Amino acid sequence: MSDPLLSVRGLKRHYPVRSGILKRKTGAVRAVDGVSFDLAAGETLAVVGESGCGKSTLAETVIGLDEPTAGEVTFDGETVSDGVDKAFRRRVQMVFQDPFSTLNERMTVGRIVAEPLAIHGQREDDRAAYVRELLETVGLDPADHYDAFPHELSGGQRQRVGIARALALEPDLLVLDEPVSALDVSVRAGILELLRELQAERGLTYLLISHDVSVVRQVADRVAVMYLGEFVELGALGDVLDEPAHPYTEALLSSVPRVRAEPDPDERIRLPGSPPDPADPPAGCRFHPRCHLRDRLDDDAAARCVAEAPELTEREDGGEPRPDADDGRTVACHFRPGDGE
Ligand SMILES: Nc1ncnc2c1ncn2[C@@H]1O[C@H](COP(=O)(O)OP(=O)(O)OP(=O)(O)O)[C@@H](O)[C@H]1O
Ligand code: SF4
Ligand SMILES: [Mg+2]
Repeated sequence: MSDPLLSVRGLKRHYPVRSGILKRKTGAVRAVDGVSFDLAAGETLAVVGESGCGKSTLAETVIGLDEPTAGEVTFDGETVSDGVDKAFRRRVQMVFQDPFSTLNERMTVGRIVAEPLAIHGQREDDRAAYVRELLETVGLDPADHYDAFPHELSGGQRQRVGIARALALEPDLLVLDEPVSALDVSVRAGILELLRELQAERGLTYLLISHDVSVVRQVADRVAVMYLGEFVELGALGDVLDEPAHPYTEALLSSVPRVRAEPDPDERIRLPGSPPDPADPPAGCRFHPRCHLRDRLDDDAAARCVAEAPELTEREDGGEPRPDADDGRTVACHFRPGDGE
């Protein structure tokens, strides 16, 4: 990868757990616990994982809405993890699951989309025409929608307004946190198509957060699989989703019904229980209490899973090593899918 647009190294966000009358700190929720990745200009990296694994915290920490406990975030060569500046606030924008959850429902669409322009000092006279253009860009007719109020819009239209607002300052990077999960399935495809078109036209870079593998499949170039605050697998979309190398990725995928055929129930990998408490993660490999691969290993090998935390390391699955190592797949597991058979 040539110089990445965004580079994240060892990022952590721990939330203190306080208890007792004196509210003393008694522990920490390790929401994000040592995440590293690069994002090239124009590409889409999707972060996928179960609810509570730290996806939103990662997104918010990367864009400076939340302060990291440790680690470094670099954007276009500048370190931003110790405080973001005005240029970063313009160049990096976020699209939320419900764009109106943080906005005033009594503002018109025109004002909602114009607000970032006002904050960044654009003259009022120049705004209206530009906002109308932005509405057209996201597939909304300004004549119908400029003066509309959020409650008059459908879910899909609301998300289009959210995207128009995020585009207003001509950003380079959009962080999309579950952008379609609040929408009906029938509306999702239109929004994902819009995101793809905008990326092609504007050269946008996306960090997409989703718990939904089918959404990820439609837009991502690379995929990071997150479990209890850590990435357990990171690689090209086809590699990770078609030939998962980490048992958690395998289990996550086997719980997703395929479009064409349901997986054979005998071949489905069960993901037992729910994720452990991120304030008290399991020793060694955090996935070990739920891991089907570990169940097949002999005792000595299985003991290693409890004793030693696997690092996210390069995994060449046979064949020639790739010329660009950054495109290679990294996996945090001591073993391989076929081990123990
Ligand atoms: N402000 C906070 N204070 C304390 N704990 C928090 C805070 N925000 C998040 N957490 C905890 O951090 C962990 C990760 O939460 P996060 O919202 O990042 O997960 P997520 O992957 O986005 O989940 P979802 O798919 O449900 O949106 C959870 O255990 C959550 O309860
Ligand atoms: S290190 Fe062990 S417990 Fe962890 S994913 Fe690999 S096989 Fe499973
Ligand atoms: Mg979330």
